[in-house]
Amino acid sequence: MIIAIDGPAGSGKSTVARELARRLGFRYIETGSMYRAVAWAALQRGYAVEDADRLTALAANLDIDVRPTSVEDGRKYDVLVDGKDVTWAIRSQEVDGKVSIVAAHPGVRAALTDKQRAIGRRGKVVMVGRDIGTVVMPDAELKIYLDASPEERARRRYQERLARGEQADYAQILEAVHARDRLDRGRDVAPLRAAEDAVILNSDGLSIDEVFEEALRLVKARDC
Ligand code: CDP
Repeated sequence: MIIAIDGPAGSGKSTVARELARRLGFRYIETGSMYRAVAWAALQRGYAVEDADRLTALAANLDIDVRPTSVEDGRKYDVLVDGKDVTWAIRSQEVDGKVSIVAAHPGVRAALTDKQRAIGRRGKVVMVGRDIGTVVMPDAELKIYLDASPEERARRRYQERLARGEQADYAQILEAVHARDRLDRGRDVAPLRAAEDAVILNSDGLSIDEVFEEALRLVKARDC
């Protein structure tokens, strides 16, 4: 049983997916954190994010571990890179600005897609990303494509940053959302798009609870 949830940044995917996984007793895998981990590691090492060969080798060899939460600071899980806790570091504005360049390299995608399929094959998983329904898990029992307007998505990101006590600039976040959308939708390999058999949900004007209830209804209708 695999549930694939795709959509652009800030569409509410992760909140809905995590709640679904909890309710169903499934594992919850956010594939974006793996692309973020590679982007973070590249920045740390001083690699140019445009360097496809270096980034591909990095993605293939990096030790990325996603584990249950060890600290109660609002995180949904721990992300470790080479044993170091990078859970918040991979959510920085700097990583936001570079991750889509990293994720556009076919070699990086191949390495991470392999890891994601290995996890998916074990079943009972809610997997979230950009290309889960189209490329990573095309046979998923249920595919949801969660969308929302760029303004609504930027507003949510802005609120999240403020809630974490970080500084935030709405106009800058909106511009970053647009830039990431362009890169994610326009890349040659596994661009962001809804699978043909995905159910498209637009969350503009809906609370996260309302979106969750709709997703749960879809799960029950498919007997997942
Ligand atoms: O949380 P947010 O929606 O901002 O992004 P994310 O899910 O953490 O993903 C960060 C970035 O990783 C995306 O903007 C994509 O460039 C890339 N990504 C991807 O290419 N394929 C995936 N399956 C997941 C993420």
